[in-house]
Amino acid sequence: MSGATLAERPAAPAPDDALRARILALRDGLEHGLIGCTGLVERLLIGLLTGGHLLIEGAPGLAKTRAVKRLSDGLDGSFARVQCTPDLMPADLTGTTVWRQDAGTFEFLAGPLFHSLILVDEVNRAPPKVQSALLEAMAEGQITVAGITHPLPDPFMVVATQNPIEHAGTFPLPEAQLDRFLLHVVVEMPDEASERRILDLVEGELNHHAEAMAVKLSVEEIRAARAAALDVYVSPALKDYLVRLVAGTRTDAAAPELRAAIEHPASPRGTLALMLAGKARAYLHGRDHVIPEDVADLAADALAHRIGLTWRAAAEGRTSRKIIQELVQRVRAL
Ligand SMILES: Nc1ncnc2c1ncn2[C@@H]1O[C@H](COP(=O)(O)OP(=O)(O)O)[C@@H](O)[C@H]1O
Ligand SMILES: [Mg+2]
Repeated sequence: MSGATLAERPAAPAPDDALRARILALRDGLEHGLIGCTGLVERLLIGLLTGGHLLIEGAPGLAKTRAVKRLSDGLDGSFARVQCTPDLMPADLTGTTVWRQDAGTFEFLAGPLFHSLILVDEVNRAPPKVQSALLEAMAEGQITVAGITHPLPDPFMVVATQNPIEHAGTFPLPEAQLDRFLLHVVVEMPDEASERRILDLVEGELNHHAEAMAVKLSVEEIRAARAAALDVYVSPALKDYLVRLVAGTRTDAAAPELRAAIEHPASPRGTLALMLAGKARAYLHGRDHVIPEDVADLAADALAHRIGLTWRAAAEGRTSRKIIQELVQRVRAL
């Protein structure tokens, strides 16, 4: 695969190097405190640059919470954390309207969703009503309480985490709600060399002070970087590739035996997510255009949570991620 056939690309405006340098400084600051988490850090930034929400899945103790807290340290916006439990209520997220006896009026007490970055820890432990309130807010950028609609901040980014091991006392997110997440990122156990460095890093932090993030991006910088990432060029040939790839989850044209394993294919929302995430990745890599490598790198994170496998495929131990990765191998890029 190569990005060579991009002849019809129009002259792009010069990228704002100072702004990109700030984004890269944020990336370096995140990576410095998150050993061996290059992929996770890149995806957090892709969420930030696209206005997309992230679902991070991994066993406990893999620095998921740490990653989001660190991101909040690098942003000059408000941050809230919600720990999900089975007795959580929608109002615990959205807020409630209370009667003020002294003033003789109703007053809205905003809940934790009214922040720029929200960590929703262990989202699959929240009951379905809370999940749907959360996902409605994510989709609409506003919340209606007691008949009054309150706009959410802009930027507004939800990073939800979930633990794959736990089954008792969890409510798996329904497919329609999973679809609201731009990317579903799976974090793996560190290798031994990384783990060794984690020991040194955290030991140092326990003995001294944890090193604060050197950069703090302002809301204006985030908005400007979003506009720049959105400006990244996607050639007609690359758009055709995106469509071919996602169509591979629906028709037999690309790989019939992969298609046969899929019960629910990905929707156009998935194709759009992959294109937008690809633009943000290209921006982070200093390119003004998307290449097939951006698509290949992000396809599983952007698409796997949007497809459902047949009962038989699941019983055979196949996974959505593997099916998407195999599809990427099979679909001609350009
Ligand atoms: N890759 C890593 N880099 C830095 N610290 C890590 C890493 N992985 C785990 N840790 C440390 O392990 C602990 C657990 O991290 P935490 O963010 O609470 O995990 P999670 O939210 O995934 O359960 C923290 O002390 C954190 O500093
Ligand atoms: Mg955690």
